[in-house]
Amino acid sequence: MPTITNTCIRLISRAVGLPDASVWKVCTQPLPALEDSQFLVRVHYISIDPAMRGWMNEGSTYIQGVQLGDVMRAFAAGEVIDSKNPAFPIGTYVTGLLGVQTYACSDGQNVERVPASSPNELPRYLGVLGMPGMTAYWGLLDKGCPRAGETVLVSGAAGTVGSLVGQIAKLHGCTVIGIAGGTKKCDYLRHTLGFDAALDYTQGSLSARIRSAAPQGVNIYFDNVGGDVLDAALENLARGARVVICGAISQYNNTTPDGKPAPPQGPTNYMKIVTARGQMNGIIVFDYFHRTQEFRSHMQRWIAEGKITLHEHILEGIESFPHALTMLFRGENIGKILVRVTSPSVPSA
Ligand SMILES: NC(=O)c1ccc[n+]([C@@H]2O[C@H](COP(=O)([O-])OP(=O)(O)OC[C@H]3O[C@@H](n4cnc5c(N)ncnc54)[C@H](OP(=O)(O)O)[C@@H]3O)[C@@H](O)[C@H]2O)c1
Repeated sequence: MPTITNTCIRLISRAVGLPDASVWKVCTQPLPALEDSQFLVRVHYISIDPAMRGWMNEGSTYIQGVQLGDVMRAFAAGEVIDSKNPAFPIGTYVTGLLGVQTYACSDGQNVERVPASSPNELPRYLGVLGMPGMTAYWGLLDKGCPRAGETVLVSGAAGTVGSLVGQIAKLHGCTVIGIAGGTKKCDYLRHTLGFDAALDYTQGSLSARIRSAAPQGVNIYFDNVGGDVLDAALENLARGARVVICGAISQYNNTTPDGKPAPPQGPTNYMKIVTARGQMNGIIVFDYFHRTQEFRSHMQRWIAEGKITLHEHILEGIESFPHALTMLFRGENIGKILVRVTSPSVPSA
């Protein structure tokens, strides 16, 4: 195998607020030869996920933050092009924490073989059949426990996790209300995904509009957003409601007045959990990775039957990564954002 040059994006300083270009450095360097049990992946797609914002911070939460100078952590998908690991022969398609780079060297840790037959099939293993799909599936079914006839409210509803939560809830016989930013997204939820109602949170009086859409109260609130939207949902819980805390994207770029990262704003209306005799549960998708096949078999069947869809928004070239990440926080996506890596093909020896 001839020497290959890798292009990667490294985190070189901690972001305060929305990350700008100054926190990233694009680097190129030749890849070292493989050691025993290693294999080399040509990365085709990089997944853009809100969790990346947390991974950029110092310290650890459910996972250690990225060290300054390291390649930015990312879920990605690609093809094995060289191997000293019999479990991952050349030609195998894989996904995992491969990083924001054009080539990734792995020993198989945090990497999974996927049954794709061409690179074009890889995006779904980062979206509907991948980590976000699993978050929606287990978050709703294992934490939310939906029952037919119940009302499910989901925020970030036109995004990856939210749009899947709503569709899975519909398949379980629930009435689904989505919360999203703007008319275009609300139209998409109603007319393309078949949600029963869609509320534009940018238009004010959200709590009153939730009450009109769910006069009997909300049985399950699936929260992707946090902040004021969470408070509006809490005001409208039905007795015995389940609140699933999946994320709080409205809070990830919080900054103190003197320019330091600030913690999330907690819910003012948390006593509504008490009066509703409700529950509030968190989900971390990593806890469900051992149940990937169970999730995937259901999801694949629903996709084949045309009952589940996920819009993909693909940007070209690894250099588009910094912009792609900020799109999530500006709400510039419908569905899943991915970066297609257009690395040059491997030169022949
Ligand atoms: N717990 C876990 O294991 C786990 C795993 C995966 C994801 N998550 C969480 O799930 C949530 C959704 O992730 P995703 O990948 O599906 O992202 P996404 O929803 O596809 O994209 C983010 C969306 O968030 C909305 N948003 C951004 N800033 C906002 C704000 N200030 N207020 C209200 N909405 C805002 C935007 O939609 P609008 O235009 O509608 O504002 C944007 O399109 C995130 O909070 C993420 O951290 C958690």
